[in-house]
Amino acid sequence: MKYFIANWKANKNLEEMQFWVKNFIEYLNSKLGVKQKLENGKISVIICPPFPLVYPLKQSLQSYKNIFVGCQDISKIEGGTFTGEVPAHSLTSLVTYAIIGHSERKKFLNETDEEVNRKYFIAKHIGIEPIYCIAGTDHTYPKTLNFICYEPPEAISRGDGRGDFESSANILAAKQTLKVPSTMKFIYGGSVNRDNISEYLAHDEIDGFLVGGASLDPQHFFDIIGSSV
Ligand code: PGA
Repeated sequence: MKYFIANWKANKNLEEMQFWVKNFIEYLNSKLGVKQKLENGKISVIICPPFPLVYPLKQSLQSYKNIFVGCQDISKIEGGTFTGEVPAHSLTSLVTYAIIGHSERKKFLNETDEEVNRKYFIAKHIGIEPIYCIAGTDHTYPKTLNFICYEPPEAISRGDGRGDFESSANILAAKQTLKVPSTMKFIYGGSVNRDNISEYLAHDEIDGFLVGGASLDPQHFFDIIGSSV
């Protein structure tokens, strides 16, 4: 099973989401190989939009097997008198997965490791599967994880140019240094696009990809997925 995870970050409104879905489904219906792989459980697609789009996105995709909706964060607050927070409880039955600990939240929103761990336990407790991000090989992670996402911050948002992406050799070395057990799905993220995906797909040790910029365009994201067929 290969996982293709779209991280839309702080992008898209309802109309743009509907446009994305319409196009993505058209590509899906025109490339039966991808559809079959989804139906046979060989690939899994997880789309993580901003919170307000979670429900309409889920509605639009509900008839498609192995396409899931996730969120990009879990609140450290479990609920109560915290105006404006989105507690995990309000996401139950809406999202299957949650990205947790993304380096952008640490860098721009001062999220701490302690908060990330709290979020991890809240998500687990409520039945949302965490996709736990770590930014470096010196970082620790809970040993009970099912999904670990290795994303060196310097590899994020490098754009479409060829040549200076993280090499698969570096990614595999990081997996080794981190001693990721075979029971954990090892996801890589950082400027994955349709030009460099083949190099990464050549390695069974990489179980999936967290795609930011290139996932905003339905055709580009679909091309990335299509490379696995
Ligand atoms: P990028 O983002 O693909 O735009 O580098 C990946 C991520 O930060 O999740």
